[in-house]
Amino acid sequence: MILIDGKKAAAELREELKKEVLQLKSKYNTVPGLTVILIGELAPSKIYVKNKEKSAIEVGLKSEVIRYPETVDEKTVLNKIKELNNDASVSGILVQLPLPKHINKQKVIETILPSKDVDGFHPMNVGNLSSGYESSVPCTPLGCYLLIKKIEPNLNGKKAVVVGRSNLNGKPMTQLLLKENCTVTITHSKTKDLKGECLKGDIIIAAVGIPELVKGDWVKKDTIVIDVGINKTEKGIVGDVAFEEVSKVAKAITPVPGGVGPMTIACLLKNTIECFKRIQK
Ligand code: GUN
Repeated sequence: MILIDGKKAAAELREELKKEVLQLKSKYNTVPGLTVILIGELAPSKIYVKNKEKSAIEVGLKSEVIRYPETVDEKTVLNKIKELNNDASVSGILVQLPLPKHINKQKVIETILPSKDVDGFHPMNVGNLSSGYESSVPCTPLGCYLLIKKIEPNLNGKKAVVVGRSNLNGKPMTQLLLKENCTVTITHSKTKDLKGECLKGDIIIAAVGIPELVKGDWVKKDTIVIDVGINKTEKGIVGDVAFEEVSKVAKAITPVPGGVGPMTIACLLKNTIECFKRIQK
C-alpha cells in the first residue's frame, strides 16, 4: 500500500513554484500577487487564511489579506473587489468562504474578474472547465488530480467514482477526470447502492462530508483512494474514508490530515501564478 504523502507533494510543488516565481521576476520585473478577503472571525477560516498567507510568502508571491468585521455591508466588499480587479499588482483574488448570511455569495463570486479568480468559482471558469477550455480550476480538486497523476500517470479508460457533487469538489473533480479520459460516475448521499458503485472504481474520490463513509469492503484491490473529507468527531479529525480498513485493501490512499489539505494551498499558489501568466500574455 502506498500512503500518499500530501505534505511532501505540496512541499515539492512549492519548490517548483518558487523557481518559477524567480523566473517571472527576472522576466517581468514583478511577481504575482494574491489578495485574500477574510470576513468575520470563524476560526477555521482564520487558520486557512493564515496558512495561505504564509505559503504565498514562502514561494515569493506578493501577499495581502484584507480583513472585514462580520457586519461589513455587501457593497463595501463588492467595491473592494472591483478596486482589486483594476489593480495591476493583484494577479489573484480569493474571498474566503463561508460568508455571513447578509452577503450574497454568488454576487461576490461573479464580481471577481474571471482572469483573477484563483478559486475557479466564477461561472465563466466553471463553464470553461466543463467545455475543456483553459480556466482556473478549483484548488482542492486540482490538488487531488495532481496526487492521482503521481500514482497513475495514464488515466485513460480508468473507472473513477466521485462521491459528492459539490461545486467546490465533486463537480470540478469530475471534469478533470473526464479530460483525462476516465469513465466517471458521480455519486452522492442519496445514491442507491453507494457501496456497489464504489466497488466499480479504479479510483475513488470521497468528498461528501460524511465521517468514514467509505468502508473497507466498498473498495476493490488496487484502487487509488483520495479522501477530501475533514470531519470533526469525538475521536478527532477524520476523513470521509474509514482509513484503517480501506488502507488494508487500497493500492494507494491519502491520510487525513496530511493528504489533500496541503495540496489545496499549494494549488492556490499555482493558480495565482497561472493567472499572472495569462494576464501577461
Ligand atoms: N473555504 C473553504 N475552502 C475554500 C476554498 O477553496 N476557497 C474559498 N474561497 N473559501 C474556502
